Amino acid sequence: MKKIAPSILSADFSKLGEEIAAVEKGGADWIHVDVMDGHFVPNITIGPPVVKSVRKATKLPLDVHLMIENPELYIPEFRKAGADYISIHPESTPHLQRALAMIRESGAKASVALNPATPLFVLDHVWDDIDMILIMTVNPGFGGQKFIPEMKNKIQSLKKKIERANSKILLEIDGGVNVENVGELAALGVDVFVAGSAIFESKNYQQTISAMKNNCK
Ligand code: DX5
Ligand code: ZN
Repeated sequence: MKKIAPSILSADFSKLGEEIAAVEKGGADWIHVDVMDGHFVPNITIGPPVVKSVRKATKLPLDVHLMIENPELYIPEFRKAGADYISIHPESTPHLQRALAMIRESGAKASVALNPATPLFVLDHVWDDIDMILIMTVNPGFGGQKFIPEMKNKIQSLKKKIERANSKILLEIDGGVNVENVGELAALGVDVFVAGSAIFESKNYQQTISAMKNNCK
C-alpha cells in the first residue's frame, strides 16, 4: 500500500494543530516535517520544539527531513521530540555512516535524502545502515516547485537496485508530487509520497489525498 505523507511546510502555521488533524482525518499515512537551517538550504523553518508539538497533535508516524548541516548534533534531540523516521543528506556531514548509525541507535528509522544531482552510488557503502531512501524530485528549500522529469530515471534505477538486493528499504520521493503525476510515479515503484502544496493548497484535503491514493492503484 502506497503511503501519502503531507508536508506541513505548506500548511498554515498559525493553526498547525488543526491542519495536522485535518490531513490525518483525510487519510494521511505519515506527517512529513521539513527542518531547514538557512545553511544547507536557502530557507529557515522549524526545530525540535515544533516537532514536539506536532508529536502531540497526531498519532501518525513523523517523517522528519533534516536539511541542516552537521545533523549529528541534533539527531538525539529530534528523536526525543518524536521523530519516527529521520532523513539526512550526505552532503551535510563528513560522517554519513556514523550519523545513520546514530539515528538507528536513537530508536528512529534511518533514511538518506538525495538531492536531484546527487548520484545513487553515495549509498553503496551504507546500504545496510538505511531503512529508507528519499529521492528529492526538486531542489530542497521550498514547497511548490515543479517535479524534475529526469528524476523518473533515477527512481527506476534505485528501484532496480532495491529489488536486486532483495531489500526492504522504502523508496520515498519529495517535491512536485500531485494528483496528476502520482499514478505514473507509483508505477515506478515509489512507496512513500511526500506532498506539500498539492494537499495544503487544495480546498478539500480528504478529497485530494483519496484522489492521490486512487491514482496510485
Ligand atoms: C522541499 C521539501 C518538501 C516540500 C515539498 O525542500 O523537502 O518536503 O515541502 O513541497 P511540494 O510538495 O509543494 O513540492
Ligand atoms: Zn521534505
